[in-house]
Amino acid sequence: MTSETPLWEFVDISKAYPGVLANDKVCIKLMPGSIHGLLGENGCGKSTMIKTLSGVQQPDSGKILHNGTEVTISDPQAARDNGIATVFQEFSIVPTLSVGENIFLGNMPRSRLGVINWKKVHDDAARVLAEMDVDVSPNAITGTLSVGEQQLVEIAKAIAMDARMIILDEPTAALGEEEIERLHQLLRNMRSRGTAILYVSHRLDEVERIVDEVTILRNGRVVRASGETEINVSDIVSAMVGEDIGEHYPKEHNASDDVVLEAQGLVTEFGVTDASFTLHKGEVLGLGGVLGSGRTEIARALFGTDELSAGQILLSGKPVRFRREIDAIRAGLALVPENRKYDGLFFNFRASGNITAASLGGLNRFGVLNLKAEAQATHDLIRDLEISTQAEEKTVNFLSGGNQQKIVIARWLFSQSDILILDEPTQGIDIGAKIAVYKLINKLTRAGKSIILISSDHDELLAMSDRIAVVQHGAIKRTVKASDLNHDDLVRASADALHTKPEEAFA
Ligand SMILES: Nc1ncnc2c1ncn2[C@@H]1O[C@H](COP(=O)(O)OP(=O)(O)OP(=O)(O)O)[C@@H](O)[C@H]1O
Ligand SMILES: [Mg+2]
Repeated sequence: MTSETPLWEFVDISKAYPGVLANDKVCIKLMPGSIHGLLGENGCGKSTMIKTLSGVQQPDSGKILHNGTEVTISDPQAARDNGIATVFQEFSIVPTLSVGENIFLGNMPRSRLGVINWKKVHDDAARVLAEMDVDVSPNAITGTLSVGEQQLVEIAKAIAMDARMIILDEPTAALGEEEIERLHQLLRNMRSRGTAILYVSHRLDEVERIVDEVTILRNGRVVRASGETEINVSDIVSAMVGEDIGEHYPKEHNASDDVVLEAQGLVTEFGVTDASFTLHKGEVLGLGGVLGSGRTEIARALFGTDELSAGQILLSGKPVRFRREIDAIRAGLALVPENRKYDGLFFNFRASGNITAASLGGLNRFGVLNLKAEAQATHDLIRDLEISTQAEEKTVNFLSGGNQQKIVIARWLFSQSDILILDEPTQGIDIGAKIAVYKLINKLTRAGKSIILISSDHDELLAMSDRIAVVQHGAIKRTVKASDLNHDDLVRASADALHTKPEEAFA
């Protein structure tokens, strides 16, 4: 560590919510020109700390120093005035506004008479997007963009402020490898200009690549302060969870020869151009590809969300036609959607009500709602996925972001479907919960269920799939054994797919 004055310093910051001490005497120093990782399990207090630093809430006690002088960050505007830009874990963009308007929301360039300078909004937004290498028009309506693109707009908004300190809470959860690499490059450039960066991510491979120092929280307390320069994933994991976690990817092979689902030349008007593949009983079929390659669109086509304009789906050899999602659910399919930031949760319900929601309305396998069995299954899932114990007492809106995601996953695992489509199931959940999801995947495939796994985390996809199909412009031409691919093959196949004919992608 240098002896420079920190740009920002937290001294003994505490913050309690009803029933939980979310930050307990947290100390942290944020240096200019340094990328500081803030890590820890879901619910350990990362976002709480970020909200305090961003003026969203006031700490109960402790001091905040700016260049060595004590300050109060009374509201989000005060944080901006003090040169702090934040990308929050929850989206803050307004879907009905254009990209340019969102980027400058609350900060519109105006003439001296107070009139908004639309040309400048447009030009400045275009400049920031170009700097980020994001191919989105400043005039596009933000709500029509994909989740990943919306996330990039969210980041652009912070970057446009040209702040001395930038805070990113899970910025890459909805991004693919290429976008992550571009974001990292941008952050490295900002670092070399002396910006202080506070970075939260549950993707530890990414942390290892980009951060200079880490602070690790557990149950609201700092368990590892920054200062150690060595950044080693297995040390980080043990500090986070307080124990050794063993095998990172506990893959079991349970695939049989029976084909449970076959997609033949699927086409939709929403981005599926030609998808053919088979799914076996007990198999995990991974869909790889870059952001926007059409993986989510294939999931939507399978699930009856988007109508097929050509091709057909066979279940155990019999053609089926899903006109709506409910048809797919009745036929034994489940989809854990990617867009968990927006849909899926009833925020005013407790976890249990959310978990059983998809199985109500006569959807239960046996046609009856066995309340006792339901309570037991819910309880087991909360335990297996290590969902905050508060989940059983509190409504979902009081849980941390990662715990909310686990509840959506639990709901679909509870729904007892035979074929589960998991779209980015481990995004934003901590390492312990990721392993719990992998173990549940094993448990499901062992019971003869089949899984279509979509993941932008290549290591995860390779380790947990039996076979992998690379999606290219909405098409799947062939699938290969996961064990025949390595990380670089997959990155190359996904990226090459943009420039190569599909059949050549694995050559
Ligand atoms: N508005 C709130 N009201 C009550 N409790 C809250 C509120 N926000 C957070 N909490 C609780 O405070 C604790 C810390 O939550 P926080 O959101 O800071 O976790 P986190 O480290 O950001 O987790 P994640 O990785 O899941 O995003 C958790 O126990 C959470 O349930
Ligand atoms: Mg959080």
